[in-house]
Amino acid sequence: MKSVNYLLFSCLFIIIHPFSPVVKGQSPVKHIASDTFKPGEVWPDKDGNHIQAHGGGIIRIKNTYFWYGEQRGKGLDPKYRYVSCYSSKDLLNWKFRGNVVKMLPPDSLTAYWVLERPKVFYNAKSKKYIMYFHVDDRNYKVAQVGIAVSDKPDGEYKFVKRFRPLGHESRDIGQFIDDDGTAYLVFEDRPFGFRIARLSDDYMDVEKEMTLVKAHMEGGAIVHYNGLYYSIGSALTGWNANPNKYSTAPTLEGPWTEFKDIAPVKTNTYGSQSTMLIKVVGTKKTTVIFMGDVWKPKTQYDSRYIWMPLEIGDGKLWLPEPKPWKLNIKTGETQILF
Ligand code: GAL
Repeated sequence: MKSVNYLLFSCLFIIIHPFSPVVKGQSPVKHIASDTFKPGEVWPDKDGNHIQAHGGGIIRIKNTYFWYGEQRGKGLDPKYRYVSCYSSKDLLNWKFRGNVVKMLPPDSLTAYWVLERPKVFYNAKSKKYIMYFHVDDRNYKVAQVGIAVSDKPDGEYKFVKRFRPLGHESRDIGQFIDDDGTAYLVFEDRPFGFRIARLSDDYMDVEKEMTLVKAHMEGGAIVHYNGLYYSIGSALTGWNANPNKYSTAPTLEGPWTEFKDIAPVKTNTYGSQSTMLIKVVGTKKTTVIFMGDVWKPKTQYDSRYIWMPLEIGDGKLWLPEPKPWKLNIKTGETQILF
């Protein structure tokens, strides 16, 4: 009898306990340190809330990773646009550090404006954190980048200016920091393709064009792996997923190869869109992680993430079918679970 009561009590506890796992984005889930990436699932931060860092970018400062992205959580004040910041030592368990941007429309922009794909660069000379983001009106006709600056990785970031990099249209942006520390902006220039351009010494401007890749790609991301540059991006289909593609080049200036699929075409990149490639240089292995967004346009707060270690090397890149996986952040080794 005692054990029956216990069983009943346990079942009830699981049903009514406030930390019972939930599917929807914002309700808290108890955070138990996780050792497994679960692509496409709700990804709770250390407070138990689904991570809100969409279209994001990641930098590493010493042994801490900072993840910045579009804050699209429920209950935000629609007057503002928000950028979130999270930190982690293992790329898996993330602490919410706050909304580091909460912005009204900059300058003369209309109230219905867009702030997307924030990316932060740390400038070692000025010791400033410089955030780039896509600024636009609701019709995506402005096509600019905005810059906001902070003295600390977790803000507050103050808006400085908005402009078209090197005079070109710029919608989706990506960030790339080469092995020698040089910082680049990747931006989609609608009439022509996408451009890779070096930032100025203080990172407050986009200074030198490295290349124009004549392919219409969004969600552009680059990684430098074993002496070769790999760029990936998606087609221009708004929030709908499409087959993402990659190209390689011996230098950022090119020549870039024809674009090839990164996953079986019919999966539409398993329903995701590229936003960044993260290189983890471990003691035993270098792993490159594909970081993608699974957008849910009608319930953006519930948009998910697909992160998977890529099969990469000798000019080839392939995104394996998303499955739970583990990463050893020290050795760089990964294990895909079946
Ligand atoms: C996507 C783009 C997103 C967002 C969206 C709006 O193509 O990658 O960042 O701009 O379009 O429809």
